[in-house]
Amino acid sequence: MFHGKMEITYYGHSCFILEIAGKKLLFDPFIRGNEFAKDIAIDQIEADYILVSHGHSDHTADLVYLANKTGALVIASWEITTWLEKQEIKNVHPMNVGGKRSFPFGNLQMTFAAHSSSFSDGSYAGVAAGFLISFEGKTVYYSGDTGLSLEMKLIGELNKIDLALMPIGGNFTMDAGDAALASNFINCKRVIGLHYDTFGYIVIDHESSIAFFKNKGVELVLLKSGEKFTI
Ligand code: NI
Ligand code: MN
Repeated sequence: MFHGKMEITYYGHSCFILEIAGKKLLFDPFIRGNEFAKDIAIDQIEADYILVSHGHSDHTADLVYLANKTGALVIASWEITTWLEKQEIKNVHPMNVGGKRSFPFGNLQMTFAAHSSSFSDGSYAGVAAGFLISFEGKTVYYSGDTGLSLEMKLIGELNKIDLALMPIGGNFTMDAGDAALASNFINCKRVIGLHYDTFGYIVIDHESSIAFFKNKGVELVLLKSGEKFTI
C-alpha cells in the first residue's frame, strides 16, 4: 500500500500544522500570548483547515483572527461553529463526538476527550474532543486536552495509529505517566508531547517524561517551537 507523507510543524502548546495531501490542517490556534511561540510570525501561517478540540483560550486565542485571515474551513463542535457564525465566520463544518466524515485531505473522526469546554466569555462550547485523521494508510491521533480514559482502548482496537499527539503537562490533562499508559491503550509507539511548559502549572521535567514513555516501549518526541517532524 502506498503510504502518504505527513509533515507536522509545531507552534508550541497544542498548536501545530499537519500537512497531508497538499493540505494544511492547523490545530488549536494559540500563538500570540504564548511565550514559547514568540518567534512564530502569525501572519506567515497558512491553513486550508482549522481543527478545534475545545473552546478554552489556550486552544482558540487566535481562532477568529486566523479563520478570517486564512479563509480556512473551521472543523469543530456544533457549539463552536455556531459561536463562530455569530462572528461572521461562515466557512465552518460542525461535528460531534464519534462522527466520521471524509474531507479532501482524508478521513476524519471526532473522538471523546475527558475534559471541559467553554469560551473565555463564558459561553458553552460543546464537549471537548480529539481527532483521528487517516490518509493513504497512515493514521494520526490528536487526543485534545484529556485525562487518561478507557475510551482510548477502543480507539486503539479500531485503528492502527502511526503517530499520536497528546498532552503530557499534567494538572489540567494527563501527565507524562498517564500519557505513556494512554500510548499503550491506543497501541502507538511514537508520541509528540503537547500542552507542557507553557505556564507554571504545567512545567515538566523533560528527561523523566521521556523515561516514563521509554518504560512503556514508546518514543516521546518533544519538539521546539517552529520545529518540523515527518512520518
Ligand atoms: Ni482545555
Ligand atoms: Mn488546554
